[in-house]
Amino acid sequence: MTISSGETTATATATARATATARGATTNIHHATAINRNKYEKLITKPRSQDAIAETETNGSASATATATATPAPIGATTDRTMLLPLEDTNAAAGIVTYKQKSNGSASGSASGHGNGHINSSGSGSGSTSCSTSSSTSIGISSSGSGSGGSHLGAGSSYSMGWTCHCCNLIARRCFGINVRRCVLALLAITMVTIFYYTHYVDTDVFNGYKIEVAGKSLPVLTNLDKGRYGVIVFENLDKYLNMDKWNRELLDKYCREYDVGIVGFLSPSEETLVGAQLRDFPLFVNTNLRLRDASLNPGSSVLRLTRAGETAWGALPGDDWAVFQHNHSTYEPVEWAQRNTNEYPADSVGQVQLPLTTVLQDRGHLDGIQRVLFGSSLRFWLHRLVFLDSLSYLSHGQLSLNLERMILVDIDDIFVGEKGTRLRPDDVRALVATQKNIAAMVPGFKFNLGFSGKYYHHGTREENLGDDFLLQNVQEFNWFSHMWKHQQPHLYDNLTLLMAEMHLNYAFAVDHNIPTSSGYSISPHHSGVYPAHELLYVAWKKVWNVKVTSTEEYPHLRPARLRRGFIHRNIMVLPRQTCGLFTHTMYIDRYPGGRDKLDESIQGGELFQTIVYNPINIFMTHMSNYGSDRLALYTFQSVIKFLQCWTNLKLASAPPIQLAEMYFQLHPEEVDPVWGNPCDDARHKKIWSKTKNCDSLPKFLVIGPQKTGTTALYTFLSMHGSIASNIASPDTFEEVQFFNGNNYYRGLDWYMDFFPSGEALSLPPSNSSSPSPMPTQAGSPRYMFEKSATYFDGEAVPKRTHALLPHAKIVTILISPAKRAYSWYQHQRAHGDVIANNYSFYQVITASDSAPRALKDLRNRCLNPGKYAQHLEHWLAYYPAQQVHIIDGDQLRLNPIDVMNDLQRFLKVQPLLDYSNHLRYDVKKGFYCQALNEKRNKCLGKSKGRQYPTMDERSGKLLQRYYLNHNTALVKLLKKLGSRPIPQWLKEDLSTGT
Ligand code: A3P
Repeated sequence: MTISSGETTATATATARATATARGATTNIHHATAINRNKYEKLITKPRSQDAIAETETNGSASATATATATPAPIGATTDRTMLLPLEDTNAAAGIVTYKQKSNGSASGSASGHGNGHINSSGSGSGSTSCSTSSSTSIGISSSGSGSGGSHLGAGSSYSMGWTCHCCNLIARRCFGINVRRCVLALLAITMVTIFYYTHYVDTDVFNGYKIEVAGKSLPVLTNLDKGRYGVIVFENLDKYLNMDKWNRELLDKYCREYDVGIVGFLSPSEETLVGAQLRDFPLFVNTNLRLRDASLNPGSSVLRLTRAGETAWGALPGDDWAVFQHNHSTYEPVEWAQRNTNEYPADSVGQVQLPLTTVLQDRGHLDGIQRVLFGSSLRFWLHRLVFLDSLSYLSHGQLSLNLERMILVDIDDIFVGEKGTRLRPDDVRALVATQKNIAAMVPGFKFNLGFSGKYYHHGTREENLGDDFLLQNVQEFNWFSHMWKHQQPHLYDNLTLLMAEMHLNYAFAVDHNIPTSSGYSISPHHSGVYPAHELLYVAWKKVWNVKVTSTEEYPHLRPARLRRGFIHRNIMVLPRQTCGLFTHTMYIDRYPGGRDKLDESIQGGELFQTIVYNPINIFMTHMSNYGSDRLALYTFQSVIKFLQCWTNLKLASAPPIQLAEMYFQLHPEEVDPVWGNPCDDARHKKIWSKTKNCDSLPKFLVIGPQKTGTTALYTFLSMHGSIASNIASPDTFEEVQFFNGNNYYRGLDWYMDFFPSGEALSLPPSNSSSPSPMPTQAGSPRYMFEKSATYFDGEAVPKRTHALLPHAKIVTILISPAKRAYSWYQHQRAHGDVIANNYSFYQVITASDSAPRALKDLRNRCLNPGKYAQHLEHWLAYYPAQQVHIIDGDQLRLNPIDVMNDLQRFLKVQPLLDYSNHLRYDVKKGFYCQALNEKRNKCLGKSKGRQYPTMDERSGKLLQRYYLNHNTALVKLLKKLGSRPIPQWLKEDLSTGT
């Protein structure tokens, strides 16, 4: 995503500007509101956007509470916090003041040159850029379809999208870098969060390094080391800005001036109807609670970039609480106008020329050096969403800008599949080709992408079979991709040969019928096997079709759609697919769910339109049945593309899937790595997951390490429990699977699950194994599965990955003195023949400087880093609640394993409780506790556990105590925060001598 060059210079020549003159500006005013003295008392910053949104108020009362406070820092200086307290007398604080004199209800002035006529449909089907969505003629409906098209823009549309804007201050963080789209979307979405009271949104990675902070009652810290922290400031309720106490207002205005940061503000509906009321401190007046119609944009507005001015959104505008601005200063420039809804105000229309009323206003900052864009209504009106995007771009000087390129690909799935009567006839194919041409005139490179299942070729009526033939005669007109031969779901196959055989049938059909086989793209019926990934599908796709790209709506979940992402697995690029609202059974325009109005609403600024506005790469899935009957899909796509051309400056284009995929992952390199979720946590995913796979066999708890803390002993003791079972051994890494931390993760979930066969198969180790002998389990009782991989503890990506798959798992970790751990690890490396460890002393390793050879530095890091316990634990605790995390004192595990195992069983709630005193015995020879096999024999861990090596040299010991001092101090703090865990003796000792 490129960042637009910005639009800070208002270069537009105002060819058609409204110069509405405010009336009655000098009449009496009174203070409408007084603010609470404490309202802006605290400066609050939100380090995590989650918190911020969770606390976003939705009732307009500005009551958001913040949990994290930050040191206030006024612009360019460190500031005494108290300086930021309100200094003003409460009585002096006023917001919008009410102008008592009754107005005649319309701003005088004139507007010329903006959209002044209804754009009629040409109906020619020639790719006209007319704003009409009528396309019935162009899609050539020949017989049965209703296809009555012809609805003009917004006319008669109810705009019934129930969005309301509530009062909270949104502050967008200055966004730099690659992923501006996500940031901008986040801003839009955050508004929706407020609007829809939808808070789950924040659990996602949408922000991608950019933050939106939602201010509560107070201003957040605005600067950081002389750098401005925010690129745009958005007041969902402008009152909050106008009514700010003097001190904070001055602070904010100063920030805006010094950092050239603009403000977006939305006037919120109020119960009181204001007429010619002056906005405090501005030569600007408002009338409120109006019903309006016919919105037009000012073609001369320098704010507009993505939005194309010049047309009129005809018809009633949503809501009855619009505010309009009256102004008579050159700093103000209308961005959008509308008319009074004469249906609602019949008296106004009699003999009067309707004058345009300013509904969105730009303040160019001539008066006070601050640029603003003010909205007289919320984002409930679709056009305001575009203007809002442009306002963000304009006021952030292009930093918060979306690229203008949009790619569109339309897949038509289920070619040849479908009941008689729902399939394509020759006329439909003709219309398909003709419409494709029309669309290609507006969207260069556009070709429908047809996915076929050869088995059902010629399964229709006589005419439909002719349609099949006609499609094949026109095979070169389209792009093609393979579906499954019989539309089977690949996840139902557990046998690669059978799956490939089915694919080969479709391949042979393609070859026989001259269908191209080289698109490198394929789609799976019902997303089956794509996500959750069924490895056999990926393998078979590669082998038979050399598939490089697929797409799905299911990753990570179908909803919310805006959070769909892509990933790459086994070299197949999986792209997120967007929803266009057309499904197999959606076959007639008038029978579109919710009716034709609903469809038009989606096209004319609603969901489908916005999907394309927000997504640089759009892949829509449709089905053959959407192109028969009255050709609903042709109507939909041609209409939405016309509408986009009419209202936006987006550059639409199309390309084959491989090109799109390459573009996608260039835009979103952070999405390349998949994150495997738990298929059982999503009903849709469970349905398309093999019946042979079973979440019950996934681990219920993980022993995460770190290495050398006694993890093998713990693993061994746990495996003695009849109700507890671990994975089967790996040929490479033995008892450890090491799935979540390294390249194994890319082998996919199936690979991991193979270590946890369900039922009896998992059970007992072979008799010659050195693994412990488990106690007999209660008949029929389920095993409590676990996995131990000691490298998980400090693996950067691990907590996120484990949480995605095993959010309810319990996490068990063991801690010993980090210095001793480091030394034990070093000895372990030596014993395993590590050349560096054998060539350098421990002291040399731990003191290796950053200019040391790379291998030595790596060894140093691997030796020392896991011991920064607090840091790693915090990372785990960011994903798992403390109640799911169990910390074992490794010294206790060594010296008193029976108590440790009792505690652990209680934590795991495992039944029945095993009395380890009958099964563990101290082995004098080994010097450790071992499994008591019978009265005389013990089974101890192997030679590599409890090794003999010289004690650590004093110099290294002292150095490490100093090295870990801060980490250990943080650990004590963390342990205390976590509850009543006794502080381990080793930790106290490390700290007492570590200064
Ligand atoms: P040393 O070999 O340095 O003494 P891990 O299994 O995580 O690699 O940890 C190995 C460490 O476990 C050993 O380190 C040893 O001190 C410790 N340990 C704790 N209980 C043990 C037991 N019952 N038998 C063997 N080693 C044990």
